[in-house]
Amino acid sequence: MHYSEYLKLDKILEAQFLESSKKQKPAHDEMLFIIIHQVYELWFKQILFELESIRTIFKKEIVDDQELGVIVSRISRCNKILKLLVDQVSIIETMTPSAFLEFRDLLNPASGFQSLQFRKLETILGLKLEDRSQIERKFFNSRLKPNEQAELNKALSEKSLKELVNSWLSRLELIDTKGFSFWKNFKQTVDIMLKNDSNTIKNNKTLNDIEKDIEIKNLESIKSSFNVLFNQDEYEKADFSLSRRSMLAALFITTYQDYPLMHLPYKIISSLLEMDEWITKWRYAHALMVKRMLGQRIGTGGSSGHEYLRKTAEKHVLFADFFKLNTFLIPKSKRPELPKEIQELLGYHYQVSKR
Ligand code: HEM
Repeated sequence: MHYSEYLKLDKILEAQFLESSKKQKPAHDEMLFIIIHQVYELWFKQILFELESIRTIFKKEIVDDQELGVIVSRISRCNKILKLLVDQVSIIETMTPSAFLEFRDLLNPASGFQSLQFRKLETILGLKLEDRSQIERKFFNSRLKPNEQAELNKALSEKSLKELVNSWLSRLELIDTKGFSFWKNFKQTVDIMLKNDSNTIKNNKTLNDIEKDIEIKNLESIKSSFNVLFNQDEYEKADFSLSRRSMLAALFITTYQDYPLMHLPYKIISSLLEMDEWITKWRYAHALMVKRMLGQRIGTGGSSGHEYLRKTAEKHVLFADFFKLNTFLIPKSKRPELPKEIQELLGYHYQVSKR
């Protein structure tokens, strides 16, 4: 085996053809533009490869602890790559807008909308057609080739990572077992906590009536957020994409994250949140870079450019429900104590033999 044969360097290093050179007007920065896109696409390939393996594990009826560790380390790997993808935006920013204009028109109508891998990434993670605005739906696959559209449709028809995580969470039996109901216990604690807070506000001599009113209204709004979680009908009317059972399981995991058995499930939740953050950061960094390069110009794919991309960054948060979880967290000192049996199930138990 030879280094360059193994890595197929003949193919990779000979895949940079400058349009500007073909037109006898070589533009120096076009080389950077091509290489940076190729590098992104290679990293997208690696992320898709990791996500595919994570989905395969989640598809199993029972996901054991060792596999949870594998999932966590692979999501963390994706997050490291995504961080790199955000950092790399600064490399393309070394190209000035006027240097870009030297070759931009030669690329028309090629566009980032034609990145099949990016669309697959969004789709596999869980972004559905119905999550996209009408204009986004238009650009979803209309710029792709027919075979690419077919590949994307296949990805759309499969269970996304978000759906698989939802069913994995919903199978957590511990939240409702052996005469123990997590949410009923949790509700009792929250009711007492909110009542105490209300008394504290009412008895606070440093607040005048208007200030007390404001504080009480804030408390009422916290109360209604909790009511949504505690009531199935309210929950269904609210804007959640995870089922209520899964949301309660995620709350259980987050509340009791310091119990050994909950470590890895908690890491899965927090690393998926982190993944969402990196993708959003990339969307913003790319949108800002586009603003700097193009100003108000429209994109070669036909979108409004920066404005369009900024909106997708604001809107497309995949695991938004995990961000909402923190609204429902209560201090560790106030969390309901778990029954002994459940505590034992969640801990490590070493038997020390007597000699
Ligand atoms: C000078 C640099 C760049 C400019 C001016 C630029 C411009 C744009 C614009 C205007 C769009 C919106 C679609 C359109 O109307 O064409 C877009 C989308 C996109 N670009 Fe870039 N881009 C640049 C660099 C990159 C790089 C390095 C990547 C890395 C892969 C990339 C990936 C994408 C992707 C995936 C989309 C689709 C985003 C979505 O649909 O939400 N772009 N780009």
